[in-house]
Amino acid sequence: MSSSTNRRVFREYVGAQQSAVNLTDVPVNPNVGEFHFILSFAIDYTTSDSAPQPTNGNFSPSWNTRHHTPEAVAGFKRRHPDGPNKPKARVMVSVGGDSVMERANVLFSPVDEDSWVRNAVESLSAIINDYNLDGVDIDYEHFRTDAAMFTRCIGRLLTELKARKPGLITSIAPYSDTESYYISLWNEYKNVIDYVNYQFYAYGRDTTDQDYIRYYNTQANGNFAGGSVLAAINTNSQAVINIVNPDVALQACSELNQRLPGIFFWSADASHNQNQGFTYEARAQQMLANN
Ligand SMILES: *[C@@H]1O[C@H](CO)[C@@H](O)[C@H](O)[C@H]1NC(C)=O
Repeated sequence: MSSSTNRRVFREYVGAQQSAVNLTDVPVNPNVGEFHFILSFAIDYTTSDSAPQPTNGNFSPSWNTRHHTPEAVAGFKRRHPDGPNKPKARVMVSVGGDSVMERANVLFSPVDEDSWVRNAVESLSAIINDYNLDGVDIDYEHFRTDAAMFTRCIGRLLTELKARKPGLITSIAPYSDTESYYISLWNEYKNVIDYVNYQFYAYGRDTTDQDYIRYYNTQANGNFAGGSVLAAINTNSQAVINIVNPDVALQACSELNQRLPGIFFWSADASHNQNQGFTYEARAQQMLANN
């Protein structure tokens, strides 16, 4: 198959772990359809003091803004211009995440629906313009509201951002503990959600490749049926945290291969910090390129 017809996507989160990795460090296979970096995270919290406070939808970057600058984003895109036999290199912003610099949980905690949506549309539009970004990912993992409130706020946010910037690429990042919020959002607003970055690596260390494939089928054929549900690999292989081994995840991806619209990675920082030479990223992209 010629690469111009390959629409499969490789995505990787970057920035949350504040490593020295540069966007241009990660290899880009010319034969994948699209290559997305996802800058992590924009948060609606204060970051300056030891007790971060929510700011009701006024987002700012929590990545190292002296390292991942608008110029760095532009440099990455210049290095990978669109064209025949080239992937579309795009850069997104992810919203939320687990914690504010590991000091406090990032809670979805709007004061009220209208003011949160208004603030979120304005502040995220400013970040998108400053960095010339191409998309938004929603990754809230803790909630002070019910799923109905989350659904209305995020659904309206994605709808308004897409109206402001035609072609904006959107995704959501559920996992088993948070999926009820995201299934509610999906059921009402799937028309404004382009990818589902389901965090399959969160199923834990004892997950086998056959378990992984079963989990994938449950999400892709059930909860998020009709969506572009991506497979997920976490490169934090030596972590004390309880995640799926990246070799097991890669094996499951190779068995699912033709069915996958793409694969996303957490994270460029982890791969850099563990000095892996981005070998998992390269192998996953080779798999997607060989479609
Ligand atoms: C990232 O780029 C900066 C500026 O060019 C450079 O100083 C730094 O060493 C790079 N980081 C790595 C990990 O190569």
